[in-house]
Amino acid sequence: MNKTYKIMTFGCQMNENDSEKLAGMLEHMGYIKEEDPEKASIVLMNTCAVRENAEERVFGNIGTFKSIKRKNPEMILGVCGCMMQQEQVVNKIKKTYRQVDLVFGTHNLQEFPKLLEECQEQRKRVVEVWDDNLEIPEDIPTTHKYPFKAYVSIMKGCNNFCSYCIVPYTRGREVSRNSENIIKEITALVQKGCLEVTLLGQNVNSYGNDQENDYHFHDLLREINQIEGLRRIRFMTSHPKDLSDEVIEAIVACDKVCPAVHMAFQSGSNRVLKRMNRKYTREHILELTQKIRARVPGVAITTDIIVGFPGETEEDFQDTLDLVKKCHFDSAFSFIYSIREGTPAATYEDQVPEEIKHDRMNRLLDVLHELSQDGNAGYQDQILEVLVEEWSKHHPGQLAGRTASGKLVNLNGTADDIGKIIKVKITEAKRFSLEGVQI
Ligand code: SAH
Ligand code: SF4
Ligand code: F3S
Repeated sequence: MNKTYKIMTFGCQMNENDSEKLAGMLEHMGYIKEEDPEKASIVLMNTCAVRENAEERVFGNIGTFKSIKRKNPEMILGVCGCMMQQEQVVNKIKKTYRQVDLVFGTHNLQEFPKLLEECQEQRKRVVEVWDDNLEIPEDIPTTHKYPFKAYVSIMKGCNNFCSYCIVPYTRGREVSRNSENIIKEITALVQKGCLEVTLLGQNVNSYGNDQENDYHFHDLLREINQIEGLRRIRFMTSHPKDLSDEVIEAIVACDKVCPAVHMAFQSGSNRVLKRMNRKYTREHILELTQKIRARVPGVAITTDIIVGFPGETEEDFQDTLDLVKKCHFDSAFSFIYSIREGTPAATYEDQVPEEIKHDRMNRLLDVLHELSQDGNAGYQDQILEVLVEEWSKHHPGQLAGRTASGKLVNLNGTADDIGKIIKVKITEAKRFSLEGVQI
């Protein structure tokens, strides 16, 4: 029997990390990875609910499997991830998408092998979604995409309930993972050759707040920094309301913690921030970025921005542009506000018209591109350590890697260099990447 799998991942790093666990469980059951989804015996779509276009892509993809499954009726099509935590989505799949054989959610990922078996044995559709799970399952086999770098989840869920955001509904309440288990996982990864870990959480700065012991994110950073053989520690994402001085001082004190902070500010208008339920002001963002830059030399600060939140006026938007310039972010992910059913902002009556949202997005991108060019120019002629990751997708014959601050560098070299940290001189600073040569 053909035992092959294909996983399609639609969401954030946490979603990717879940896909790595699904791959790990499948390989543990004897399945082999297959690139072509039409040939795989099991296809899983790990979905994201954060914006409407992510959901549309998923439904579009499920649609194409109607004819694929006609040609390959033995195939099992499973859908999982954040979208499945929404009742209306599961109902729509049950009603309209008969090609889907298996549905499960974010809280019962660890049940996947059992559900798959049920689906195969009984040859019927299996749908099982849990409302919540306060446990963090440990020891799920995980197949990491790269041997030299890995995502490590340190917590799950979110308690912040920003008024636009679906994540607290799809991922449940915040639960921190036991620090011993985190250290154990990273130590095992390092023993297998891993050089870099990225610690994941919706708000890593509140790590430990749900626990009795007085152990917080900065304690965790300091402890991971002691792991011998590990070279780089990254983390994401930081909520500006919880990014404490202790965390900034831990970045300064720990040689392995990279000078890179991803801190979403969303809007530069205090009025909008209040309606977003973000619990900080533009003044706080300005002060925080200045403090981080003063304490962490060479730091890159990146962010997320939403344009067209309900009630956002031209003046509010100008406040966002102004703050972007004042903070001089190294780069930003910018998003057009997308109505998410079930969140408070979806019911706000002052929704911004589509054409205004698009116009603001374009104006924001112009400013961001200029800042990015400007920020990269500062790297000209510097000698930096680059972790070489793979062959460049856009520059044939060149390798691609990242500086400690997270900048993409294209450089010369051979396949042997992949997975190594190499000294590089920056010869050219482009808008979205740097060019370098090995020294
Ligand atoms: N927990 C992270 C964010 C996770 S979601 C944090 O707060 O830093 C990633 C980004 O998606 C958010 O930062 C936000 O900019 C964007 N986002 C979330 N909900 C959105 C919505 N309804 N419309 C548009 N963008 C949204
Ligand atoms: Fe969403 Fe806000 Fe939680 Fe981030 S902190 S996941 S934006 S609710
Ligand atoms: Fe991530 Fe999307 Fe879920 S951003 S947490 S996969 S809704």
